Amino acid sequence: MNPVIDVHVGAGAERRLAEDVFDGLTKPFKEIPPKHFYDSRGSELFERICELPEYYPTRAERSILADRAGEIVAAAGDPVELVELGSGSTLKARMLLDAMGEPERYVPVDVSERVVREAAHELADEYPGLEVHGVVGDFERHLGEVPAANGGGRLVALLGGTIGNFPPGTRRRLLRDVAGLLGPEDRFLLGTDLVKDPAVIEAAYNDPGGITAEFNRNLLRVINRELDADFEPDAFQHVAFFDRDREWIEMRLRATRPCRVRVAALGLDVQFAAGEELRTEISAKFTRRRLAADFAAAGLELATLWTDPDGLFAVSLAAPARR
Ligand code: SAH
Ligand code: AVI
Repeated sequence: MNPVIDVHVGAGAERRLAEDVFDGLTKPFKEIPPKHFYDSRGSELFERICELPEYYPTRAERSILADRAGEIVAAAGDPVELVELGSGSTLKARMLLDAMGEPERYVPVDVSERVVREAAHELADEYPGLEVHGVVGDFERHLGEVPAANGGGRLVALLGGTIGNFPPGTRRRLLRDVAGLLGPEDRFLLGTDLVKDPAVIEAAYNDPGGITAEFNRNLLRVINRELDADFEPDAFQHVAFFDRDREWIEMRLRATRPCRVRVAALGLDVQFAAGEELRTEISAKFTRRRLAADFAAAGLELATLWTDPDGLFAVSLAAPARR
């Protein structure tokens, strides 16, 4: 079946990038949200990060799905539809779809058009009876564009630890919006990285080959291209450290010398002092307690939590809270 693909970003996305860059570069502590990493090159670099020996989250989550997909699908009440938010590569979707037996529909939702198109075409080719309905959109703004359920249960998944890239307030709002998508029979599957030895976490974000550093600096290349800016990416050093109080990784870009950056599309000139940092990402790590609290605040109830044998990563199934 030919996939259907709805595109809800485009001119709107550029406007959002412009707003985020203007706001972020004029704050006393400069900061840009991580969703702007993911142009084609950013998505490709992320795929390379997933294969790095130090980057354990992808392997750990895949191992949970490889071992438990059947159990997860049964616990979710044998859904016939998979909605995947921040879909990325199709590997994890395939594991779930295979466990679903005869899935009726797959809905990948991602801000990256390339990610959605590739996933939609690959899976429509591989699963002949499957309806594929891709949504290119920002799941902070476009959850209302996710097609209504076909009848039959839905599993809505947000995997890879992406939820950790949102600060706590936004995270709970996003979970609440996801809860709003769920009918009484639908279930939510959430992948989260877990709190562990900080050295293991920090190694995952500081690979010696510098792929994560390139992913981080890709943000500057996106801003240069989309907003006619003149960042010199090589003048910025990759910084990633675990904040032990907040239990999250922070990724930053540190100016190695004083820089003056012109963002022509915004008519904006920005100064960076030598050593000044721009925060580009947080990546929160979770405990079972934090997860249950976030779910409860969002109107969701944690049903089952699975981890890999080393306890690095968790995949949790949640249901709409009973009223
Ligand atoms: N789920 C995949 C990919 C994780 S990478 C995995 O587990 O490997 C994060 C993905 O989320 C990227 O593909 C990125 O484009 C997407 N993304 C990040 N913020 C988003 C947002 N606000 N709306 C939609 N997609 C987003
Ligand atoms: C997509 N997200 C869950 C990744 C993470 O680990 O927070 C993005 C990433 N940043 C650096 N490496 C990977």
